[in-house]
Amino acid sequence: VEPNAAWRDEVLRLAEERDAVILAHNYQLPEIQDIAHHTGDSLALSRIAAQSDAQTIIFCGVHFMAETAKILAPQKTVLIPDERAGCSLADSITGAQLREWKAEHPGAVVVSYVNTTAEVKAETDICCTSSNAVDVVRSIPADREVLFCPDQFLGAHVKRETGRENMHIWAGECHVHAGINGPELAERAAANPEADLFIHPECGCATSALYLSGEGIVPAEKVKILSTGDMITAARSTKATKVLVATEIGMLHQLRKAAPEIDFRAVNDRASCTYMKMITPAALLRCVRDGLDEVHVDLETAKRAQGAVQRMIEIGK
Ligand code: 13P
Ligand code: SF4
Repeated sequence: VEPNAAWRDEVLRLAEERDAVILAHNYQLPEIQDIAHHTGDSLALSRIAAQSDAQTIIFCGVHFMAETAKILAPQKTVLIPDERAGCSLADSITGAQLREWKAEHPGAVVVSYVNTTAEVKAETDICCTSSNAVDVVRSIPADREVLFCPDQFLGAHVKRETGRENMHIWAGECHVHAGINGPELAERAAANPEADLFIHPECGCATSALYLSGEGIVPAEKVKILSTGDMITAARSTKATKVLVATEIGMLHQLRKAAPEIDFRAVNDRASCTYMKMITPAALLRCVRDGLDEVHVDLETAKRAQGAVQRMIEIGK
């Protein structure tokens, strides 16, 4: 299947027939981002899914994102073009592991990143995304212990920003972001001293970025730790002519569209998420044509997870 005009017309026609809205995460292939009705980060897409009037949501992203949409809108049909699109970060904690961890810390407030399974969300007090994690943890009374899962790098970022001591962090990671490391960032920053650094907080290099600014190697105002959605906002307002981007490389497409005059370069151009890229033009066509793959979350789990997800979309607007 070629992503040409005929493909485009057919996908959009079939989507309309199904009363479907197509959502695409910022890490999707450029042709999938371009055909979607909405693109965005996990938080923005969850909000759109919750508010949409469409009967069907087609989620071009990974499985936990489509599950989140289903939790927020159980009466809607939620489709993902390929249900095998998983997430190594979501796989780094199971519901059983979280239950055990909670038993070791009775009374603690559980904050889970949205990159988790519905089962983990059902054990969670408040979900967060990279764009509101700091606000979510700040919303918890200072005397309550916090269990933060599953991403250790995002957890470390939140701990640094909030200065919170009573926060325990699960040792999970996303293989794509963990692979964007400190030495690589330092080398790229030294070779491009005029560039801004846009760093996703899931990156292995997020701590190094702050070290580079703390030591005055890169001016502090040039180092920005941002969710994918916030990167687009920052691209529109920065005065820099070059930006080094540390996140999954699909992000470059929206950044270049938002600010064509800026030279955006990946810190690591091998940082591509195989799961995100399973959503191909052929898979999307099959999805709108045949109504596959449908995402199901059992009602009991969805009910328990809903409060945590609802709190997430309300914080940090
Ligand atoms: P955000 O879009 O929330 O920044 O998340 C990044 C991510 O890794 C999703 O898989
Ligand atoms: Fe999961 Fe990482 Fe892929 Fe995002 S980039 S979907 S966190 S594996």
